[in-house]
Amino acid sequence: MAERKVQKLLIEEATGKKYLVKSVKEDFHTAEGTIAKADLQSGKTIVHSNRGKRFLSLNPTFPDLWELLNRGPQIILQKDVGLILAKTGVNKNSLVVDAGGGSGSLTFSLANVCKHVFVYENNPAHFALLEKNTLLFGLKNVTLKQKDVYQGIDEKDLDLITLDLPEPWNALQHAEKALKPGAFLVVYLPNLHQVHQFIQATRKTNVRVLETLELLERKWQISEKIMRPEFQMLGHTGFLIFCRRL
Ligand SMILES: C[S@@+](CC[C@H](N)C(=O)[O-])C[C@H]1O[C@@H](n2cnc3c(N)ncnc32)[C@H](O)[C@@H]1O
Repeated sequence: MAERKVQKLLIEEATGKKYLVKSVKEDFHTAEGTIAKADLQSGKTIVHSNRGKRFLSLNPTFPDLWELLNRGPQIILQKDVGLILAKTGVNKNSLVVDAGGGSGSLTFSLANVCKHVFVYENNPAHFALLEKNTLLFGLKNVTLKQKDVYQGIDEKDLDLITLDLPEPWNALQHAEKALKPGAFLVVYLPNLHQVHQFIQATRKTNVRVLETLELLERKWQISEKIMRPEFQMLGHTGFLIFCRRL
């Protein structure tokens, strides 16, 4: 589908500020001066701007690109993405539907490990953002669909469906038809009353809820004199409901 648009990651040594370089065929301008294209093309890991500032010049990894994702609607954060990947065991053979696509945090994280991801997003502005981010990641195994997933899912024999939208119960019967027996459905919801409504809706289907959980992440400050949790932590982001189609 899309050409890989990002060719280099520059990290300014003094500040840690990161820049994505889309073409090494041109000089690259930063807040701390210009990096010559010859340096970008040279393969050197340390380069200098014309103002003498040192930069690390690296090939961007998936997490580098994820960090610099263009954001629109609220994204699913890495702690929750990681749990989805771990608990569903998706891999290079997996076919997945992700709805709604939003900014694409979950979409691209799935595409990074799965065979193919079909993405449903019905909001034109969010769809345009997904197109832009697809170019950023340069992943070819993503199909974007500007469609309302509540109206149906075109794909069959899926290994996983992920739903991050306000009324996932409206997509439940479509998901049931589109999943392989034994395949996973994961629903991400910020509010408990939505969780309750979704679980109630599964009772009339062949989709069984395995577990509902949330994950809290607490960073620690470690230095010579301080070794303790940071005062602020990433608390509630959303509830994750893991289900399986029987
Ligand atoms: C919170 S965002 C998803 C964020 C995304 N999971 C991520 O990690 O970046 C929810 C998205 O669902 C989309 N959406 C809501 N209802 C939808 C529907 N019926 N069909 C497809 N997309 C829908 C919204 O437009 C919005 O972009």
